[in-house]
Amino acid sequence: VLAIWHQLTKSEIPELAKASVLMRDRSRVEETIQAMQRAGPDALQVISDFDMTLSRFAHNGKRCPTTHNILDNDLLINDTCKKMIRELLNTYYPIEIDATRTVEEKLPHMVEWWTSVHELLIQQKIRRDLLAQAVKQSSAMLREGYKVFFDRLQEQQVPLLIFSAGLGDILEEVIRQNHVFHPNVHVISNYMDFDQSGVLRAFKGQLIHTFNKREGALLHAAHFRELKERPNVLLLGDSLGDLTMADGLAHTQHALTIGFLNDQVEERKESYVNSYDIVLVKDETMDVPNAILNYIT
Ligand code: TMP
Ligand code: MG
Repeated sequence: VLAIWHQLTKSEIPELAKASVLMRDRSRVEETIQAMQRAGPDALQVISDFDMTLSRFAHNGKRCPTTHNILDNDLLINDTCKKMIRELLNTYYPIEIDATRTVEEKLPHMVEWWTSVHELLIQQKIRRDLLAQAVKQSSAMLREGYKVFFDRLQEQQVPLLIFSAGLGDILEEVIRQNHVFHPNVHVISNYMDFDQSGVLRAFKGQLIHTFNKREGALLHAAHFRELKERPNVLLLGDSLGDLTMADGLAHTQHALTIGFLNDQVEERKESYVNSYDIVLVKDETMDVPNAILNYIT
């Protein structure tokens, strides 16, 4: 039976045979895809990270900005603040992706990073009415094939939860400007709180950083309860912390996790293959998720 499954997905989803696609257990992946296909789109939900998962890591050899880094614009912040935010990135990003440290070791550093950046942003009195322009001027890009991904989920009425430790206001603007902020899209993220004159004064709710998405998921349990009729989950992420995004779900039947391995490939390959069902190495496209969705919906 396994051999037949192997044949089937090989011919139906040739994207899975690409050299950049790594799998710890190909048969299990194929069985899961088959089971999801049998259950159909009504049983499916998709949970995805945003920065460096739906958005590109790089384009033509140049790094693309995360939602936080989109704010690195003269419209919004002064040079001193820019410099400080860049220094924080240079200090903390290597810790975020360090293969030699545990999540527990990274946690306090991530809280420090996010808290410092958010304080700086508040000091800059960022204006809400300039955010759209900053997004337009940025080099932020969604992965190649993003439109097929978002449009198909909308057509099939499959809910897409974007669960981001980035900035919700910016993320929404990016997907709006790319014309894919469809009604089936829900966002859990860090949202800005503006005063009456439209100036940033705080951040709403509990801080979400890369490694506390589990707590965020449990906090939003009500959202997940609404989706309990959809027992199958496709999860997309680029950080090992993203794997906890589905922890708010109580009744999962079949889950398939896809991880984009963008950076520090050799150092992190083993841990990614051990943690994600499918690992996409330096792949700036949505080709694999799209091919899987095309097959199961
Ligand atoms: P994500 O959960 O949507 O991927 O967003 C988190 C990413 O944002 C994470 O990889 C670190 C990154 N980040 C920056 O690039 N700059 C910053 O100032 C902060 C706080 C985070
Ligand atoms: Mg990410």
